[in-house]
Amino acid sequence: MSPAPVPTDRPRRLRATAPLRRLVAEHRLAAADLVLPVFLAEDATEPRPISSMPGVVQHTEDSLRAAAREAADAGVGGIMLFGVPATRDATGSGATDPRGVGNRGLTLLREEVGDDVVVISDLCLDEFTDHGHCGVLASDGSVDNDATLQRYAEMAVAQYEAGAHVLGLSGMMDGQVAACRAALDGVGATGTAILAYSAKYASAFYGPFREAVDSQLQGDRRTYQMDPANRAEGMREALLDVAEGADIVMVKPALGYLDVLADVAATVDIPVAAYQVSGELAMVEAAAANGWLDRRRTILESLTSIRRAGAGIIATYWATEVARWLADGTQ
Ligand code: PBG
Repeated sequence: MSPAPVPTDRPRRLRATAPLRRLVAEHRLAAADLVLPVFLAEDATEPRPISSMPGVVQHTEDSLRAAAREAADAGVGGIMLFGVPATRDATGSGATDPRGVGNRGLTLLREEVGDDVVVISDLCLDEFTDHGHCGVLASDGSVDNDATLQRYAEMAVAQYEAGAHVLGLSGMMDGQVAACRAALDGVGATGTAILAYSAKYASAFYGPFREAVDSQLQGDRRTYQMDPANRAEGMREALLDVAEGADIVMVKPALGYLDVLADVAATVDIPVAAYQVSGELAMVEAAAANGWLDRRRTILESLTSIRRAGAGIIATYWATEVARWLADGTQ
């Protein structure tokens, strides 16, 4: 019997030690690229845990300030605010009220972090409407795209006035980027950037978020959010948003949509973000609590995968914790 041929190509050489693996790693996580989504509840008198999102709470103003400070100290790059109002109505009037919980929260965050961390709004009506949809309804009950754009334009100005650095347009109405850009420019807010949730899919992975914002929604968002079956359409949506003036485009959710993320990242020449959503957190936390997954390794692997697929910016509920791990050098 002749001896087995000896391989000449030996990729294992570069995997031999931790320093070698670190040296040749193609992708690395950085705290500055992470965005922490936070919830501020208008009627909370103490932080309220969200049962389906272990470790995440609905904040009071005081606890929000503390969380923002901790994120800033850990080097987190951005904070994205969701307001949970105590009352709602058909047009989501709380969204454009300067004293509404979302706008108050933006002002409070700016007071706390100044320009040290990027303060990002959520520009969508779903938290503020009594029917829970992301826009206003037509008489037949459907979501009225163009009437909603009017409300989004008003919201853009209110969020700029409240102090947001970046507006996160998450409603998936056609033309929302152009409408908000025009409204901002119209009031001289030319320096306020737009992060467009370009490819936002109608996903079951948002389930826990609905608890987080006390969502009033009956039914679903399939007439405006994207069909999970569609990949090419994700690119089409991103290109439309770039043409309308988006400064950053986002794909959401993250882990199930890495193909879309990779397509978008390879094509657009502006920063690309991904949102690791509530259900992605919930799955890992539940499995880790059962001892079925190594929590820390799973979190880092999922974030590294999102980075590898092309996200320069990653929104994750684990942002502060992961930023601390990265500072320890324990990636
Ligand atoms: C809606 C909005 C949603 C999320 C962020 N913004 C929910 C939805 O579209 O139903 C989901 C975030 C998450 O699941 O973590 N404005």
